[in-house]
Amino acid sequence: MIVKSAADWEQDRPRLLKKLCEFAAVMKERPFDNEQGVRGVSAFALYWFIQEVQPTAVFEVGVWKGFSTWIIRRAAPNAKVFCFDPIIMMEPFLDMSRVGPTYRDPAATYLRDEFSCANTAELAAQSVRPLVFFDDHQNKLPRLRQAKDAGIKHIIFDDNEVAGYTHRTLEQDRLEINSAALLDQLIDRYEVFPALWDIDALLNDCLRVKEKGMDFPVTPELMEIYNDRDWHSYVTYVRLR
Ligand SMILES: C[S@@+](CC[C@H](N)C(=O)[O-])C[C@H]1O[C@@H](n2cnc3c(N)ncnc32)[C@H](O)[C@@H]1O
Repeated sequence: MIVKSAADWEQDRPRLLKKLCEFAAVMKERPFDNEQGVRGVSAFALYWFIQEVQPTAVFEVGVWKGFSTWIIRRAAPNAKVFCFDPIIMMEPFLDMSRVGPTYRDPAATYLRDEFSCANTAELAAQSVRPLVFFDDHQNKLPRLRQAKDAGIKHIIFDDNEVAGYTHRTLEQDRLEINSAALLDQLIDRYEVFPALWDIDALLNDCLRVKEKGMDFPVTPELMEIYNDRDWHSYVTYVRLR
């Protein structure tokens, strides 16, 4: 498996900066400020990877208020979007004034099934380049296998920290000899999105995030994203063999 290195990311610096400025302009139109889920550099990482892959269908697993759905739609305006989250079924029973603003995409399909039980293989087969984004806090290796079984080669994972979090991550599996060998068999390319600025933060009172950033400029147009730089969730792109 090819792992994208810091030097590889450094080579992408001009493209990253150009795309980041584009993304900063997109973010001016955001439907609300996200609190739980992708934000700041992590929201950009999702946008970046989707634009790199140019998927024709996106399966989103873990929707919550729909901020990532909005990012997906902005990054891939013509893609078919399939959304999975038990929250969708629960909405009639929730006090939505406590949930706050949500984004639901009128062109997306919201499914009631769990991703692993749905007809994802059938849906993916109708698309030239399907991609799945997992932000559901479930163990990542089983999710990777489910994507493979569905015929989906392009995967983006949120929350892939080596320290672990609410679930077992690929970064943890890469440290263990048997699962590392398995990942090597399954994965062709592996890219953890880097910190663009230095971070040393305690998130959600439990997760220490300490990273040396790429020292991107702090300009007025990038200030909003810079201010959210602590929300670094190791967004990771995986291309299966
Ligand atoms: C961190 S939130 C998602 C945030 C969203 N992606 C964003 O960035 O705005 C995690 C969501 O995963 C959902 N979830 C938990 N288990 C799930 C499952 N098996 N399938 C799909 N979604 C699940 C939860 O209901 C919750 O809404």
